[in-house]
Amino acid sequence: MKKVRTVEWKKGRVVMLDQRLLPNREVYRLYKDPTDVIAAIRDLVVRGAPAIGVAAAMGLALGAQKLPQDRFAKEFDKLCRAFAAARPTAVNLFWAIERMRTLVRENSRLSVETLRKMLEAEALAVYREDLDANRRLSEFGAELLPAKGTILTHCNAGGLATAGIGTALGVILAARDAGKKLSVFADETRPILQGARLTAWELKKARVPVTVITDNMAGYFMQQGKIDAVVVGTDRTAANGDVANKIGTYSVAVLAARHGIPFYVAAPTSSIDLNCPNGTKIPIEERSAEEVSHFHGKPIIPKGVKVANPAFDVTPAKLVTAIITENGVATGSYRRNLAKLVRASEPVTSTTSRSRKRGHAN
Ligand code: MRU
Repeated sequence: MKKVRTVEWKKGRVVMLDQRLLPNREVYRLYKDPTDVIAAIRDLVVRGAPAIGVAAAMGLALGAQKLPQDRFAKEFDKLCRAFAAARPTAVNLFWAIERMRTLVRENSRLSVETLRKMLEAEALAVYREDLDANRRLSEFGAELLPAKGTILTHCNAGGLATAGIGTALGVILAARDAGKKLSVFADETRPILQGARLTAWELKKARVPVTVITDNMAGYFMQQGKIDAVVVGTDRTAANGDVANKIGTYSVAVLAARHGIPFYVAAPTSSIDLNCPNGTKIPIEERSAEEVSHFHGKPIIPKGVKVANPAFDVTPAKLVTAIITENGVATGSYRRNLAKLVRASEPVTSTTSRSRKRGHAN
């Protein structure tokens, strides 16, 4: 199957598929300026935690090309801060920025020309590692799914949200490729409709049978015994296993627990924040009221009525059956087990050589 070209580095430029226009138009945009990459992250041209991280790393490599030689480190730091202000919840953004910033800090004696080359190589490493992590976690996750059945997913955690085959959708695709007979229910995911527009688009392309439902239908289908498992992605998973993901994920987790349905989270280690002790400390993005009050530019609520629009919620660890990473699957005591799995990805000697330990932690 052909990989979705979500975000790529081409001849010193960043190319991104404009996800705001899907599923009706497939438009690729070329970025020459880091400020435009920041705007693309903020405005959801590119979205999904791992894809945001890759876009930021590439945007910083792009920006480094133009920064003045005499003030390089200072200006690079300023650019890092501008990227960090784009969106608050997905930890991959901060993880990728920190990798790039560390590279500059640790190599300050090298020439700016060398630093620029190193930053480009690091951005490509972030891209390749995400691709690889998608593949590996998908294989681990595929084993957890039933031989036959229907999987519910929320938002979009597919190739459009990553550099590779996706996380939650990667798990489903790997299970299908292993011979499992699966179909998917995709929550439409109000207000931006990532499920209806993006997940359905990807699964149709991948020839996985998909049914789109409105978010408030999930309980009905669970009660009917139509859902066998839930798999979602995450924007930031805290050290204790609390999971921030697209608004509505928590409701799905509560419903799954009520109906005895396993609730799996596909989380590359780049989305796990060991510095964040629990979900109450995860910053939740509040997006514009228009996303809720308007549809296709037209108001759908009376003028002057207040609107709330938190873009994410937090599912407590106790509702999560397992967290699937590229280094293995965590169950049981998440605090101990997630730390083990994240540490298995930490650099051994340099930022480009990483250990590849694998296993299950429970
Ligand atoms: O606002 P978005 O579209 O960036 O939110 C995306 C999600 O919530 C995804 O589920 C999450 O980033 C995981 S993507 C592998």
